[in-house]
Amino acid sequence: MISKDMEKAINQQINREFFSAYLYLSMATYFAEQNLDGMASFMQMQAKEEVEHGMKMYGYLEEQGARVLLEAIEKPDSEFDGPLDIFEKSLKHEQFVTKNIHNLVDQAIKEKDHATKSFLDWFVTEQVEEESSMDSIVNKLKMVGDKGHGLLMLDAQLGRRGE
Ligand code: FEO
Repeated sequence: MISKDMEKAINQQINREFFSAYLYLSMATYFAEQNLDGMASFMQMQAKEEVEHGMKMYGYLEEQGARVLLEAIEKPDSEFDGPLDIFEKSLKHEQFVTKNIHNLVDQAIKEKDHATKSFLDWFVTEQVEEESSMDSIVNKLKMVGDKGHGLLMLDAQLGRRGE
């Protein structure tokens, strides 16, 4: 059993996870249009992971006998200014998600809700990985620049995600 406040907060996070999927899919379509197929595939995989994050929370609420309430998903940006812009925005977005996950943990601690705190631990660790992955791509893009041979090599590398 979890509190109504916690139920509401997790439902809000489910919405953010699905928005994240939407945002990364929008970025994937941009990359596909630019013929950066590796980056498009990377973003599609990222979007799938976000759906999995949302579904983990969905499953947790059901397990706890709480109600899943799906709200409208905000429209993501569709105009971007190249790969560096996209990965910088992705990093910023992940930092925003991390902040929200930490707020949820704070709330669980405040409510002495040990089950939710333990459930959220996985997300805390996952966010470290998500931020680090985006940060590393931003740094590589800064090194190789937004076009040319280096960009194509990075595109190929990102296309191998999940192999
Ligand atoms: Fe579900 Fe990228 O955080």
